[in-house]
Amino acid sequence: MSSPKNDQYFSKKPKSELKVRKLFESIRSHTLNLQTSTGVFSPESVDKGTRILIENLILPESYPGMNILEIGAGYGPISIWLEKDYQFQNQINEKNPPIPNIYASEINERAIWLLKRNIITNNCKKITVLKGDFRDHFESLKEKGISFQAIYTNPPLKTGHETMLELFEQAMDLLAPNGFIQYVQMKKLGAPGFLKKLKIIQPDWFFTYVRKKGGYHVILASPTEYEIESKVSSGYF
Ligand SMILES: C[S@@+](CC[C@H](N)C(=O)[O-])C[C@H]1O[C@@H](n2cnc3c(N)ncnc32)[C@H](O)[C@@H]1O
Repeated sequence: MSSPKNDQYFSKKPKSELKVRKLFESIRSHTLNLQTSTGVFSPESVDKGTRILIENLILPESYPGMNILEIGAGYGPISIWLEKDYQFQNQINEKNPPIPNIYASEINERAIWLLKRNIITNNCKKITVLKGDFRDHFESLKEKGISFQAIYTNPPLKTGHETMLELFEQAMDLLAPNGFIQYVQMKKLGAPGFLKKLKIIQPDWFFTYVRKKGGYHVILASPTEYEIESKVSSGYF
């Protein structure tokens, strides 16, 4: 059958038989036209956690040269939504705020193939795909002096807390001075415990619940206090 036991969504080369499907997903004012397939994360529909994250994304006001990073982009719902939203802001705002550079890191080759197709189908021009393990891109991003105003992720939970912590530690090191990391995690899959570990790594950072919904926690982590209008569901913790 099409799903070998060891074929995890974060496999570099999924072995399952390729079966492509098309999704049209409306999320927070934009419709995404996405191809997905066997062997990638959440092929049947955009993941519930991803949807809740997108619905609650905090979007920094753009400036020329602003960079955004997504870690573990999969077939692209978050990065593509981001570009579509900044394109829209560029069109409707008379000041034409620039569309940021969006870097989308992904390890699964089948997801990368889909991501590249979805970027074209959705008319995205500002997404750079970082192919491979994020930890392999970290040094070259640092060397090039590329820093990020916002880093988003629906992190690869199944890789375990240790790998996730490594990804977060490296991401933290790539943030621009007033930047932030925003992520989603299911409470029952260890969100409170993972948060405790992040607080140990960065005891001086601010960690804010942006939203708690349907068993998912959307969390914003930043080295400086970040104003989140009325969206905060509970204070600092
Ligand atoms: C929970 S999925 C989220 C996918 C996509 N952002 C979405 O919301 O549908 C996490 C993604 O991280 C990718 N991933 C796992 N380990 C990675 C690593 N070390 N570097 C880059 N991507 C990784 C997986 O292949 C998977 O696509």
